[in-house]
Amino acid sequence: MSIIFNEQDKSFTLTNGRIQYVMQLFLEGYLGHIYFGKALKSFNIKRAFYQTEREGAPNPAKHADARIFSLDVLPQEYSVYGSGDFRIPALEATLANGTTTLDLRYHSHEIFSGKKDLANLPSSYANNDDATTLEITMREVAGDLEVVLSYTIFNDVDVITRHARIKNLGQDPIALRKAASLTLDFPTDEMDRISLWGKHAFERNIERTPLNHGIEIAASSRGATSHQHQNFLALCDRTTTEFTGDVWGCSLVWSGNFEAATEVNSFGNTRMVMGINGFDFKWMLNHDETFTTPEAVLVFSTDGLNGMSQNYHRFVQDHIVRGVHKNAVRPVLVNSWEAAYMNFTEDSIVKFAKDAVKLGAELIVLDDGWFGVRDKDNCSLGDWTILNQKKLPNGIKGLCDRIHDLGAKFGLWVEPEMVSPDSELFRAHPDWAIGVPNHERYQQRCQYVLDLSRQDVRDYIVESICQVLASADIDYVKWDMNRNLTDIGSFAYGKEQQQEIATRFVFGVYDIMKRITEAFPNMLFESCAGGGRRFDMGILCYMPQTWTSDNTDEVCRQKIQYGTSLIFPPITMGCHVSACPNHQVGRSTPMLSRFICAMSGSFGYEMDLGKLPEAEQAEVAQHIALYKELRNTIQFGNFYRLMSPFEGTQNETAWQFVSKDGNEVILMYFRNLCQPQGNIRKLRLVGLDENATYEVTHHMYNQSLACNALDYLCNYKLEGDTFSGDELMHFGVNMDKVDRDFAAYLISFKRK
Ligand code: DGJ
Repeated sequence: MSIIFNEQDKSFTLTNGRIQYVMQLFLEGYLGHIYFGKALKSFNIKRAFYQTEREGAPNPAKHADARIFSLDVLPQEYSVYGSGDFRIPALEATLANGTTTLDLRYHSHEIFSGKKDLANLPSSYANNDDATTLEITMREVAGDLEVVLSYTIFNDVDVITRHARIKNLGQDPIALRKAASLTLDFPTDEMDRISLWGKHAFERNIERTPLNHGIEIAASSRGATSHQHQNFLALCDRTTTEFTGDVWGCSLVWSGNFEAATEVNSFGNTRMVMGINGFDFKWMLNHDETFTTPEAVLVFSTDGLNGMSQNYHRFVQDHIVRGVHKNAVRPVLVNSWEAAYMNFTEDSIVKFAKDAVKLGAELIVLDDGWFGVRDKDNCSLGDWTILNQKKLPNGIKGLCDRIHDLGAKFGLWVEPEMVSPDSELFRAHPDWAIGVPNHERYQQRCQYVLDLSRQDVRDYIVESICQVLASADIDYVKWDMNRNLTDIGSFAYGKEQQQEIATRFVFGVYDIMKRITEAFPNMLFESCAGGGRRFDMGILCYMPQTWTSDNTDEVCRQKIQYGTSLIFPPITMGCHVSACPNHQVGRSTPMLSRFICAMSGSFGYEMDLGKLPEAEQAEVAQHIALYKELRNTIQFGNFYRLMSPFEGTQNETAWQFVSKDGNEVILMYFRNLCQPQGNIRKLRLVGLDENATYEVTHHMYNQSLACNALDYLCNYKLEGDTFSGDELMHFGVNMDKVDRDFAAYLISFKRK
């Protein structure tokens, strides 16, 4: 791993032996982007940027006669507005004199081992042997603005992280109107663009389209990452597949408004700009103040989308997630939400827990409805320390102790960022909710958002949540967030800073998350935001897992988990089996299929297991035992997508896990609607040792509805059979013939 500055050709090269990133200084210090891709054995940089005259492309005065150098065609590292580049800028500012033209030039650079934390923001971490950082300082020609571009390359994973720090060197305030994390220019427009779109209960659907001329944007202005768009983009060659071809991914360590834009210009070049959304953004930068952008995580892989995801998964596990739970096995969880909603008592939860523990559950979570007078979702948020005597006469401690007595851990739901209009907190402090003067606030789920830009509000929340969490021996917290931000303003800030509030809110979220999680280092935190509204690397820096979606239907979950896996490893995804008919879509699917889908992440149940018929309870006990047996491989192994629910028949999904040491392999396959005389699906496995022999340890699939005794395939089991690695990878393995809807299959193998 190295970062080198070549004095002769003024180039910077970052490489870890597998990937390489090259930049070059041109003329009076313009910083050009030259290459990001596979590590090269040698590089003749002379013609890497081919300069030619382009009609309509402005030239710097000193080079006006030659007419071949223009920022409008130079691939750049951090694009600005006003000095000849008409493509998307990363930085827009109103300078002290009211003008908006920016012109950045190289000033100096520094190379050091390791990487530094980002001010106010969560960021990835690495020790000095695992990463090297280059920081290039650029100055605006008029002298008042400095931009430090920071690049870190990692040893163990094919990732480069980037962020920018913008400083006001002048005496008078400067208004930043956009401060993206990066510009990344590509010398081609022959690429596909992959983004993740969604909605509540249907997050992170994969959309792959050819790039078009002009600007395309995926964005959020909702105050959080959003159900609608993920703060992620990938560009890939048109021929790139799941396992082959070049792909460039970019994802943000950020949980607020963002913009992920691509622009294809008329000369066959593509620009990507990603960072905080410039829409409704302004940040006043006073003398000597610095604004730090969120970190962007860039991945390059020659091994297709799976190669990209493998790098993201490793990066999230090794450089984002931290704390005692990072490498700890995640417990089998049973959550009360869909079982009881807000209708429970201490005794009913203890009964619910007893029934679950009997079947093998390890962690019982009491969801919403335990505080204040909350029997409906229209009140009491914020009143965390007001005990609901009716439901919990012995407080959280009374319930927690009884759950512990059953031999299980205990978890609790909270939603610290919110306040109900009908709450003691709001009645006492109406100015603590985000809002603007002379406007009635808009509500969502009958709630307002607390103004976390304010220190007094943050202190109150930290204090009251810590008081609750310290009141019993709580093992787990589900941290929810159930609305978008509207009427954004703060009663604590002046008019010049009102457009900072959406950003300051996110800084405030990070501040309270940091303080609360650090106060309880042994507690397992799972984030949630109406399901997957805020599944991002920013939150994962504080909480190692996220409730993937409020939708627990097995068929929908195949897509949701498949799309999520583009960036996030299975261990970070909360995945639960719920009751049928499913509460979100009304579908009924077999228990085994729900289990195989949910066991592909941090597994649990979202239902009252005691209400199941005895035979199904026995099935659940078997499933929990099997998950416990296989969870090391699922939680810490490598994940491979084999068949996409978004492509092909769109009726099948397959994925596979291989343990870190390669000794265990788990194959899962789902076929949703049954077809008459359906094809037998043969699946070819990946990531195995061709020379090894694998023995089947578990073979599970649904029974055919019309299982006929003459059909020799009926109840046919592979357990104990052996296959060679090359057979599994090159010939494959046939799935069973099952004549029913919503069939699912699991085959696990052990290397002999
Ligand atoms: C939304 C979450 O996603 C659900 O799982 C549940 O916790 C409810 N909020 C509770 O209000």
